[in-house]
Amino acid sequence: MSSKFFLMALAIFLSFAQVVIEANSWWSLGMNNPVQMSEVYIIGAQPLCSQLAGLSQGQKKLCHLYQDHMQYIGEGAKTGIKECQYQFRHRRWNCSTVDNTSVFGRVMQIGSRETAFTYAVSAAGVVNAMSRACREGELSTCGCSRAARPKDLPRDWLWGGCGDNIDYGYRFAKEFVDARERERIHAKGSYESARILMNLHNNEAGRRTVYSLADVACKCHGVSGSCSLKTCWLQLADFRKVGDALKEKYDSAAAMRLNSRGKLVQVNSRFNSPTTQDLVYIDPSPDYCVRNESTGSLGTQGRLCNKTSEGMDGCELMCCGRGYDQFKTVQTERCHCKFHWCCYVKCKKCTEIVDQFVCK
Ligand SMILES: *[C@@H]1O[C@H](CO)[C@@H](O)[C@H](O)[C@H]1NC(C)=O
Ligand SMILES: *[C@@H]1O[C@H](CO)[C@@H](O)[C@H](O)[C@H]1NC(C)=O
Ligand SMILES: *[C@@H]1O[C@H](CO)[C@@H](O)[C@H](O)[C@H]1NC(C)=O
Ligand SMILES: *[C@@H]1O[C@H](CO)[C@@H](O)[C@H](O)[C@H]1NC(C)=O
Repeated sequence: MSSKFFLMALAIFLSFAQVVIEANSWWSLGMNNPVQMSEVYIIGAQPLCSQLAGLSQGQKKLCHLYQDHMQYIGEGAKTGIKECQYQFRHRRWNCSTVDNTSVFGRVMQIGSRETAFTYAVSAAGVVNAMSRACREGELSTCGCSRAARPKDLPRDWLWGGCGDNIDYGYRFAKEFVDARERERIHAKGSYESARILMNLHNNEAGRRTVYSLADVACKCHGVSGSCSLKTCWLQLADFRKVGDALKEKYDSAAAMRLNSRGKLVQVNSRFNSPTTQDLVYIDPSPDYCVRNESTGSLGTQGRLCNKTSEGMDGCELMCCGRGYDQFKTVQTERCHCKFHWCCYVKCKKCTEIVDQFVCK
């Protein structure tokens, strides 16, 4: 897909959806879908970065300079959103994207640990997508990783396969994603200034997590797989690992407050200060149990829960003690699969009636 078409699709989608310009709506770059893509071909207008609602001034400038990068910003945002929804699928807050003011809705106006996670995972998604796009030769301004050979790599192994360009991905993601926060000017000590510091910290934590999980990958050469020769390169970790690591950081995120000099400091001063890889938050989480227009919480009414689980996905916790309804659904699965010569697998369809539970 050419980046021109992608931009057009975005512009059209965004104007149809009447996306209000709002904090962090660069995330909306991750919300394109094939239906909107096809409309592009019909209209065929020239895309303009300035038409992309949701980008800040600085982000629009970067969009003009690096048009071919925008598709990967969008892919990165989408990867981040999907990972967020996976990590929180069994939680009261499930990272759903509903509101039309920003893709995650009003919940993001609260500086909670869920907001912290969302910023981190989307920034991480952008590093991931840009680094890979460089390696795959999709961008005019970067190519394979030029990372130095690791010192501990055995001497007879070759260093130099085409690696993911994480340095470039990190730098571009930092410039683009942080631009919006850096442009906002607020009085020192104000709530908004605390939010900016919080967002910047969590963006960085997300980017660094991608960086620190990247590893050396190698391929064997040599006669009949003897592996006498190896070529190695730098490779991104599977994004699921990034999500898992950030989820752990979410669980141990640090509550922060502004001090008298306008810096974020830990509320509980007995703990070690959070590092650049930790997540930080400044507000308690809203009540995700009940729907609340003003906080943007969707509530858990109608959510599926697990009757026998004692975890967050269990009906007791998920439904916040309101109880649940039971109903039966028919589940169809592939079963009795047989391998046929050659080469396909044929399965039967088995149906089963299962009990499901939804929160009142
Ligand atoms: C979306 O925005 C429009 C106005 O821009 C508003 O009337 C509508 O209620 C919003 N929808 C949601 C789900 O917030
Ligand atoms: C919605 O949330 C706000 C802020 O926490 C709270 O003051 C208000 O009472 C809540 N409204 C409902 C209907 O729960
Ligand atoms: C997330 O929760 C909302 C409301 O609680 C629900 O409408 C939505 O389907 C859920 N999403 C997923 C992926 O479960
Ligand atoms: C419900 O939870 C139990 C206990 O954690 C688990 O063994 C079971 O697989 C879960 N069921 C579903 C449908 O997820």
